[in-house]
Amino acid sequence: MYADRLKNLGTENAFKLGDHIIAATAAGLDVVKFNLGEPDFDAPMHIAKVGMEQIEAGNSHYTAPAGIPGLRQAIARQVSETRGIDVDMNRVVVHPGAKPSITYTLLTYVNPGDEVIYPSPGFPVYESWVTFVEAKPVPLRIRESAGFALRPDDLAELITDRTRLIMLNTPSNPCGGVVGEEDMAAIAQVIAEKAHPDCRVFTDEVYEYIVFDGLTHSSIISQPGMEERTVLLSGHSKTYAMTGWRLGYSVLPTVEEAEIFKNLNINFISCTPPFIQEAGREALENPQSAVEIAKMVEAFDRRRKLVVEGLNAIDGVTCVMPRGAFYVFPNITGACENVGAIDAFNAMSPEEQAKSSPSTLMQMFLLYRYGVATMDRPSFCRLGSEGENYLRLSTATDDESLLEGVRRIGDAVQDADGFADFVAQGVPS
Ligand SMILES: Cc1ncc(COP(=O)(O)O)c(C=O)c1O
Repeated sequence: MYADRLKNLGTENAFKLGDHIIAATAAGLDVVKFNLGEPDFDAPMHIAKVGMEQIEAGNSHYTAPAGIPGLRQAIARQVSETRGIDVDMNRVVVHPGAKPSITYTLLTYVNPGDEVIYPSPGFPVYESWVTFVEAKPVPLRIRESAGFALRPDDLAELITDRTRLIMLNTPSNPCGGVVGEEDMAAIAQVIAEKAHPDCRVFTDEVYEYIVFDGLTHSSIISQPGMEERTVLLSGHSKTYAMTGWRLGYSVLPTVEEAEIFKNLNINFISCTPPFIQEAGREALENPQSAVEIAKMVEAFDRRRKLVVEGLNAIDGVTCVMPRGAFYVFPNITGACENVGAIDAFNAMSPEEQAKSSPSTLMQMFLLYRYGVATMDRPSFCRLGSEGENYLRLSTATDDESLLEGVRRIGDAVQDADGFADFVAQGVPS
């Protein structure tokens, strides 16, 4: 009954974990949620008010498919100022959330069999669409030893004449790695020297404002020769805590390419709700936004330190301090060995192994026995995840819950008997 192409579409487990959390809660656990990929703040009121006023004023009809001019202008201005380039609003296309840009980019530039390089660990929807369009997935290892920042040498090794798209993400989900200016220049040089002229670069910068330690966000689009081949994605979900509003945008290398994205909008969604776009324009234009962003970043900064310190005190867990976004990505190899997760995984059939990993077993053990919701390594691009044992913890939760969650993880990783019993009972899938 179903079309063949559906078997190539992956998913984002963050949205699927909900059912397991409901089951764990129903079993009596008070779950600490480290799984949330969204700020735990609400959209600032000066932005929300504009959305409400616009609905009251009846601004709730179809609108321009590429986005309302006021918002496209505000985006063009912001991107020009922050990236040191000159973006015309006709190169900007607005869509509901950031995700459509990932789909549109794969649909626009990639034919079956073309090679696409994307980060692993990386945002899962990249791999999902890469396989959906029947491209050859080329996962780019993001290494803990490099502080989870993408290394130019690793990228250089993967580029071939058949590479048609290189996907970058800084600050990174799930690792919190940030590519600095010097590495970004080296990455641009690698692309200029090695990539086919028709190879596009896609840069996902939805966490552009969430950086720590006085760092400034670097973008590949600012590097010489890159603006004319780069699709830049950003949006309002993370910066302005507007995940449920669904607002994101792409900046295309040419007006012609923006027209293609506009036509994809027409085919998929017609347009982005106009009252949401007006609120999005307010977010970009009202100076109060900078104050709200600073408050949020300060909270994420404090929490990452809290969680990393706590995790590093646990035997079998090591955690790099993230430099951006609101995630930490601890290495749990020692803990997996200690509780028996590696042995339990090795004892599985190849079919079972294909859907699991030691970190998946740990994820489920933590949730169902200790009431801690985390995300396992394969949730962030399965290809390239073999042999890697990590969890992603979001710090978008209050300090008290974070501390309680870390305490429970500390208890769980010492509970080899509990783990053996959990596996013997059958791990929920
Ligand atoms: C790296 C990255 N890109 C894109 C998105 C999607 O953002 P949106 O909710 O605006 O579609 C996310 C959301 O978690 C993300 O982490």
